[in-house]
This record gives sequence, structure tokens and C-alpha cells, in this order.
Amino acid sequence: MAEYRIESHPILPIEKRPIFTFTWQGRKFDAKQGETISSALFANGVRTFGHHAKDGAPQGIFCANGQCAQCLVLADGHPVKSCMELIRPDVRVEPVEGLPQLPWGPDPGSPSPRIRKIEEVRVPVLIIGGGPAGLSAAIELGRRGVETIVIDDKHRLGGKLVLQTHRFFGSIETVYAGTRGIDIATRLENEVRSRPSVRIWLQSTALAVYSDKKVGVLKGGSRYVLVEPSVLLVTSGAREKNLAFPGNTLPGVYGAGAFQTLVNRDLVRPSKRLFIVGGGNVGLIAGYHALQAGIPVVGLVEAMPECGGYKVHKDKLARFGVPIHTSHTILSANGVDSVESVTIVKVDPRFRPLPGTERSFSCDTVLIAVGLDPVNEFFVKAKEFGLPAFAAGDAEEIAEASAAIFSGKIRGLEVAKSLGADVGEISPDWYDTAEILKSKPGKTEKEEPPGPEKGAFPVLHCVQEIPCDPCTAVCPRDLIKIDPGDIRRLPVFLAREEGKGCTGCEKCVAICPGLAVTLVDFRKDAEFPTVAIPYEFLKESFEAGDRVTVQDTEGAPLGNVEVVAVKAVKANDRTVIIKVRAPKEYAKRIAGIRIQPEQKSEPMDLYVNRTEDDTIVCRCERVTAGTIRNLIRKGVRDINQIKALTRTSMGSCGAKTCTPLVHNLFREEGVPESEIVDQPKRPLFMEVPLGVFAGLPSGEDDHGPK
Ligand code: FES
Repeated sequence: MAEYRIESHPILPIEKRPIFTFTWQGRKFDAKQGETISSALFANGVRTFGHHAKDGAPQGIFCANGQCAQCLVLADGHPVKSCMELIRPDVRVEPVEGLPQLPWGPDPGSPSPRIRKIEEVRVPVLIIGGGPAGLSAAIELGRRGVETIVIDDKHRLGGKLVLQTHRFFGSIETVYAGTRGIDIATRLENEVRSRPSVRIWLQSTALAVYSDKKVGVLKGGSRYVLVEPSVLLVTSGAREKNLAFPGNTLPGVYGAGAFQTLVNRDLVRPSKRLFIVGGGNVGLIAGYHALQAGIPVVGLVEAMPECGGYKVHKDKLARFGVPIHTSHTILSANGVDSVESVTIVKVDPRFRPLPGTERSFSCDTVLIAVGLDPVNEFFVKAKEFGLPAFAAGDAEEIAEASAAIFSGKIRGLEVAKSLGADVGEISPDWYDTAEILKSKPGKTEKEEPPGPEKGAFPVLHCVQEIPCDPCTAVCPRDLIKIDPGDIRRLPVFLAREEGKGCTGCEKCVAICPGLAVTLVDFRKDAEFPTVAIPYEFLKESFEAGDRVTVQDTEGAPLGNVEVVAVKAVKANDRTVIIKVRAPKEYAKRIAGIRIQPEQKSEPMDLYVNRTEDDTIVCRCERVTAGTIRNLIRKGVRDINQIKALTRTSMGSCGAKTCTPLVHNLFREEGVPESEIVDQPKRPLFMEVPLGVFAGLPSGEDDHGPK
């Protein structure tokens, strides 16, 4: 169904891939070679994949990352995680209704399976995670000829970089700022692959770090291998935080990472009306990606009085017509078999809902983007067992991908040094740069449009201190400057000398990752200057002669003006420049063009038919907040006891989703962290058939493949 596939995208190429058919509940559907079963289902409008064995609740994708098992389906009778399993021609896909039957197994009376020897590999460095940090570290190790294995559970390297269509912030000199995430992934991958001492194992998942300092790896998705590294470098990234609210497990409620996977990796349009919870960079960027994919964004809620992400990201969304509701939270996701609407509510300064301020919006998808937690279990275990270990990127500390690139580079050098490689002294400046790249947004200045209304000049609508400097590197006249000691300072356009001023080349307009630079040109018309506006949507959206609504930095409409040119040139790397002719009274204040009609809050029936106590906390075992809250009120402080009494955290996600929510419940009940007894983290990182530990390929019994 074409309506669920992205057929044109302003940034991503649409590859032609072979199409074949498969069946879902006996109906024939089309699939594209190379996509996962879940994406093929979404592409055909299916998003409820079955119903839970315990209470019949509908199930659909949640993490799209192999971590939660909410997306289980039967493929030719075998239960598989549909977000990780590639679709095959003619495969028979069925929903999981209740518990799937145990698959495979020798016929009664057949000989016992033969136990095979497990392959063991010794290597100086094992890197878990082929994202920005892992690849940067591998490059440094490879440059010094250090034997290294990089493992990654995906089909390609790059981690979350491959989902990022926007240009990156940070420093051009150190972390490829101004280049799109997808292209940084390719550059890093190419460089790693050019280093002969680095081996890459894709579709390979680390399962556990053991007390004998070996790491169990499911290699290539099927073979169990024990790797014995001299040093372990953990760059396994982050997992998204979850949120407990009524309706939180309905199909259609999922993380921003899952959404970006569907949209930007698999080019599937999973939503017709999207709502976002969380105003950090992840939520703001996901909203932008949705708009680029042609998905209307109905709104975004942020519980704080201000969004925590970069102001330039927030401003972009506001200009594109996305209502941003600060000091609001989600009250419930509503629907029967999947999301049909969302209800939000205003909160007081202590984040308590204010009765009477509820509003509902029709939508089919609710993205949860309320922060990230480091995936650091392997690092913690390695330390516990005395295996020399380092961590970098989000596994060490949550920050932007640009910071992960740089921390990976430093950690790669540190690892090489710990193994005796000659790397010299690592400059203290590098550690300072790493801290700058990790820093949160600083102070915001009032926007002051620049001086005299003559000639051509850029207007820098960038008024919040963030680590970012690409605009300074591209000006051929060297007229844009940032304090060289700290790229968080605001850029300034230098006063022009006669004959040496701005040439109007528009390079600064095209490169700004925040779309926060315009160029105003009075040279041809002193009353109606042209304004060059950066635009990362389909160039066909506008043509000369169209009239468009232009807005100031924060999205306030300024007027309706004429488009005089649409410039899409290769040098601008898919950033289109729209030129408008505008009155001089507000030309300098123009920052963008509205692309989405105003989203109205439609009064509608609230069908919040669940209470807060009915909110699911453990989605695998369907344990509610009320059940756990009762135990806390009875004095239980040990999560192991909650686990034993309720089965909380005993499901297939391995406690990754619910544990932080249980901690939240303790906090809500006024129990200090110091009184909580946490549960020990145990292997395995994800479920695998037992046979793999006996040397059988995953999915195969001793009698042949499934
Ligand atoms: S959605 Fe597939 S494992 Fe989480």
C-alpha cells in the first residue's frame, strides 16, 4: 500500500529493491527485499501483531531494536522478533495470540543432540557497538595496527547515525559538524573497513561478560562464540526511557528511536498523525524527521516550562507549524486495539496535573522521547570481574552523537596506550573539547537583527549557546567568528569594510545544522530585499511565483510574500534555498516558512477508561502500577521481592523496560533511593535458544535448519 511507504524524501535516496509477496493471516501482501517483517507489516498498514497471553492486550512494536519482544509474530510457525527478522518471499506470518507453541525439538526416541565445541577467539581489543563511538575508537586502534574486533547487532555499521538525516552540530574540525548523520556513518565505516587490523562482525550480539573474563557473542545471528579480549571497550549506546501512563502499551506508542528506524532506515510511513512526548533533542529531531517524511505532527508536550533540547531544533518545529505545549504532560493514550487519540494536561510547577486543563488530539502514534539511559551492563560486569574495560559515547555518558564520536576517538587512543602502543601524550585540550561537546545548552540571548539596511549580509538567528561552529568555516571572507577557545559562544558577523563585505554566497545559510541563518540582500531593491531561507524538504514544494507565509525565529507569522527563486544545487548537499521578496520592515526577522497547517485541539470524547493504578509498568508480564504501589505501601523495599511476588521484570525484555519505572514508583511514594534494594543484573542480555550454548546454530536443532 503506497500510502504507508515513503516514495520521495528530501534527503534519503529511495532505492529500487525487488518486491515479493508474503502472507499475513492468509492475506497476500507485498514486501521489499531487505526489510524486516515488522516494517513489511507497517508498510501494509498492520501495526497490531497479536495479543498478550495474560490479559489479551494488543501488542505491537515498541523498541524496534530486538530488546523487548513486544513485536513477536509467527513466521512459518516459529516465533520471531519481527523487528529483527528479515522478511522472506512467501513466508507465512501470523499474529501471536496467547503463548506461541514451543518450536523444534527432536522427535521422541531420536538420539540426543550432539554437543559441539564452542569456538574461542583471543583478541587484544573487543569493541561492543559499531556506532559513532565504537567506529571512532576502531579507527584510532586500526591506525596503530592494534588487532580489534568490532561487533554490532545490526545489518550495517553506524548505530543511530544511520537514522539521522540532519546535519550535525559540534565542531567541523573534530567531529564532521555540518555533515548529515547518515553520511558521517558512511565515512566512519569506510575508514574502519580500510584498516586491516580491524575485523567487523555484523548481526552479532554480545550476550554476557563472564567471570572468566570471556565475552559470549552470538556471531552473525546464529553461532555462539567466546571472545577473550585483553581489553573490552563498551560503546553500546543508550536505550530510551519509558513512561508509565494509561494506555502506554497500546500499539502505536513507541520510542523515538523505533520511529526513526521505521521512517529513515526502512522508509515506511508508520503514522498519519503523530504526537510527541518530550522536548529534548531526541523528540524535537524525531518531529523534524516526521515532517520530512510527510507525516503531520499534531503536537509535542514537554513537562518543563522550556524544552530541554537545542532552541534551534525547537524553533524549527514551531516554524513548521508544530504546536509545542510546555508545562504539559501526557495523561493517556486512548484506543481499543491501537492508539486513536492522546489526552494531555497542564501541570503545576511540581508536575502535578491541573484538573480542567485536559485536551485531546486525534492521532495514531505517540512517540515517547523522555530521555536515554546508558547501555552499560557489559562495562559494569567487566569491571566487576577484573577485565580491563573502557566505555565511550552514550554507554559512558548520555550526550550528542558528536560527543560520542570524539569520546570514542579519545578512548581508542587510551586503549591503544594501555596495550603498549606508541600514541604519545593525549593532549589535555582533547579532554576539554570532549567536555564542551557534551555540554548542555547554555544561556539564550535576545535576538538583535543586524545593522544598516544595505548590501547583503547573513542574519544569525542562533541565540542560544550550544557547541557548534560550521558557519565560521565556510565564509570565504572569514566574516563569521566564534570565540576560538569555546565553540559554545554565539557566532557573530563582523562589521563590513567597504569592498570586503559579504558576497551573498549563501554558504552559511546552507550549512547551518539548525537552519538558523538567513541571508538578506538589499543590493537590487532597497525596499523589497530578497531573503534566502534554508529548507530541507522536497524542492518541488515551492516554485517561483508562489506565495508563502514567512515567520520569525520562533514561528510567529510575519506576512505573506512571493517566492522569487528555488535553488537546489549539489554544493548545498540537499539543503534547498528558497528566496523570497519581502518588505524591508520585517525582512531581517524572517527565519522560516510554514509548511504544516495550524493543528487545532479538537474537543473530543475522552475515553480514558483506565485509572492510573491500571497503568502497565511491566509490559512483558502485564504487572500494573497499582500492584507494585500496594507492595511499596506495605513496606516492601527490595525489588527482588516485588519480582518474586508479581513476576515484574521476569519477562523477555530482561528487566530493561520496567526497572526504571519501578524506581519511579518508589520515588512517587516518597521512598529514598538509599532504601531501595535493586536486583542484580544477570546475563543474558537477550533471549537465545538454549541450543546455541551447546554449539548449535541458533534456529537449528541437531537435525538441520528450521
Ligand atoms: S519491538 Fe521488536 S524486540 Fe522490541
